Amino acid sequence: MKFFIDTANLEEIKEAQALGILDGVTTNPSLMAKEGIKGKKNIYRHYQAICAIVDDNVSAEVIATDYAGMIKEGTELAALDSKIVVKVPLIEDGIKAIKYFSEKGIRTNATLVFSAGQALLAAKAGATYVSPFVGRLDDISEDGMALIEQIITIFDNYGFATEVLAASIRHTMHIIECAEMGADVATCPLKAIKGLLNHPLTDIGLAKFLSDYRKSQE
Ligand code: G3P
Repeated sequence: MKFFIDTANLEEIKEAQALGILDGVTTNPSLMAKEGIKGKKNIYRHYQAICAIVDDNVSAEVIATDYAGMIKEGTELAALDSKIVVKVPLIEDGIKAIKYFSEKGIRTNATLVFSAGQALLAAKAGATYVSPFVGRLDDISEDGMALIEQIITIFDNYGFATEVLAASIRHTMHIIECAEMGADVATCPLKAIKGLLNHPLTDIGLAKFLSDYRKSQE
């Protein structure tokens, strides 16, 4: 399973990259705004700064919602760096744009996916990644992880190359369940990735090993 970090914060991206387990980054307009990045020029520069930190897979989202606008913006984003994956919202013009980019060899991430039908259309259009939002479904008392399982089944049935990228991951159990189900990617906050490290028996065991070592050296 690939690990992406779901942030536009450079320090967090550097910290996750330093762990040696990071495969990519996902951003969205809200995450960019959270970092206080204003204006197209600065936003594009910020994407380039992210690309300089990681090895590949930097999702950069288009703001346009019409076909022509998405093509223009997505083409500009893809030209910033070969690591860019153009993130496109799952709307009618978005599907057309995904098809266009797929034929041009530009990688895409279909975002704001909340149903199996939307995921199926994205796969048919040739999306590289499809991003079902697990946490936001859980927020409205729907089962986000069940959607991941459903999409994996559908993609497996037909051998779609589109990868299932579980997004809106909120905690460590989401990550574990994604791994159990065979999701291709989980994009997670740094806190959830680092949360996987924690086990009290590891801390207790390490303290005991170190204290026994110290005693043996007295
Ligand atoms: O990248 C999009 C997605 O992961 C958003 O997550 O926590 O805002 O629902 P969240």
